[in-house]
Amino acid sequence: MQSLRIYSRPPLAEPGTYPLYLTIGRRGQGKSALMERYLTLYWELPDTVCCDWNSSGDWESLQYVVPSDKKDENGKPLGKGYPMLLILPEYYDLVINEPKPITLPDGRVIDGVKSVPDTTPLVEILRLAHDERRVIVFTIHFYQPEQQGQKVFANLINQWPVAFRALPKSWNYFIGIRELSEVSSGKTKSYQGKAETETKRTLARFVRQARHYKTIIFGDVQNPRSISPDLWEMEDFIFLKQMNPIHLPDSLQHIPRYIEADRLYRSREVMGQRYVSLNRLAKNSYYCQWPNGNLTLEHSSLPLFRHHLEDDDPQALAGIQLVDTRGKQPDEPIQSSMDRSQERQERQLARASQVMEWLKDRDAGMTWKAIAEKYGVTESKVKTTCFRFQNQGK
Ligand SMILES: Nc1ncnc2c1ncn2[C@@H]1O[C@H](COP(=O)(O)OP(=O)(O)OP(=O)(O)O)[C@@H](O)[C@H]1O
Ligand SMILES: [Mg+2]
Repeated sequence: MQSLRIYSRPPLAEPGTYPLYLTIGRRGQGKSALMERYLTLYWELPDTVCCDWNSSGDWESLQYVVPSDKKDENGKPLGKGYPMLLILPEYYDLVINEPKPITLPDGRVIDGVKSVPDTTPLVEILRLAHDERRVIVFTIHFYQPEQQGQKVFANLINQWPVAFRALPKSWNYFIGIRELSEVSSGKTKSYQGKAETETKRTLARFVRQARHYKTIIFGDVQNPRSISPDLWEMEDFIFLKQMNPIHLPDSLQHIPRYIEADRLYRSREVMGQRYVSLNRLAKNSYYCQWPNGNLTLEHSSLPLFRHHLEDDDPQALAGIQLVDTRGKQPDEPIQSSMDRSQERQERQLARASQVMEWLKDRDAGMTWKAIAEKYGVTESKVKTTCFRFQNQGK
């Protein structure tokens, strides 16, 4: 293994290669921020359509349009917004409260946020995003229950080959998937069900073929054991953020051993302080295992848009509101189960008294047909209801 080196900027894969990046790290150690940094670096490349295809439940991925307050050493603002295309369930209306115009590298000024319903063919979505360099934002958390979102996710991925064949071959794609275990779980049960199995299989198959579709995939996960082993076998780059090394699977246990050995060796040579144990990494640092097995210590700053902070309200910051139109329907009074059982009893009583009248008429010598005509119902209705009533009475 090559000795550790220090980099100041995330390493991008060689042009023309389409790797799978997997990030592992403890909660809140900067996994999502690292994915966003990569996404925005790939966004700069020509003809690269970038997708952010899962977020946490607080919709953290809606903040691409909000520039960060980063400044260079002369106080010049560096923050930058990126236009978004939201894939939304049909029942969501996108309301723009505060427009966020964005100037594209070619000088066009466009609205920061646009949306398409999830029933739009993927090829159209990719075309729209490419034309205005929009980051395609989707998350299973737009749906309730999330399993519906997983189905839409699987459907989007399933359409990928068809869309790819229909679009210009010069285009490349980047898909960032935060919280990978939600769409590819190996052992977690929280999203179990048909949709969960579907997305897991679809994603594993897709990742295997992604390079044929010129697609780079970047996933993050807290617990490496919670994602499908199929995905692990296909990794190209593994990024390790701060974590307790005992959570690493056996296949990665050599990494902390190597780091510790190298750290101790170098500490005798004064340089040692710069090589950090896995459980002491800062939020802007990570170890990178390269496709050839080399290991380097890397650093990455936050993206140029405002990365979601705990107290941020993503919709307010993006100047939008996603309005659930199902909520506009007139409120129906909520029936308690007591009300419902009382209603059922009243209906049964009314039918019983009706049947008693029909039977009385029948005893008085009327035919079924005459009774049906008298009460304005069909003959078969009278007969079957009376027979059922008599049978139930026995
Ligand atoms: N490169 C960085 N430089 C400085 N601070 C950072 C960096 N990356 C992350 N942080 C800080 O760490 C916080 C958590 O980062 P982030 O949301 O990316 O973590 P996460 O690992 O995705 O968390 P979770 O597991 O909850 O999804 C950020 O809000 C930010 O304050
Ligand atoms: Mg995260």
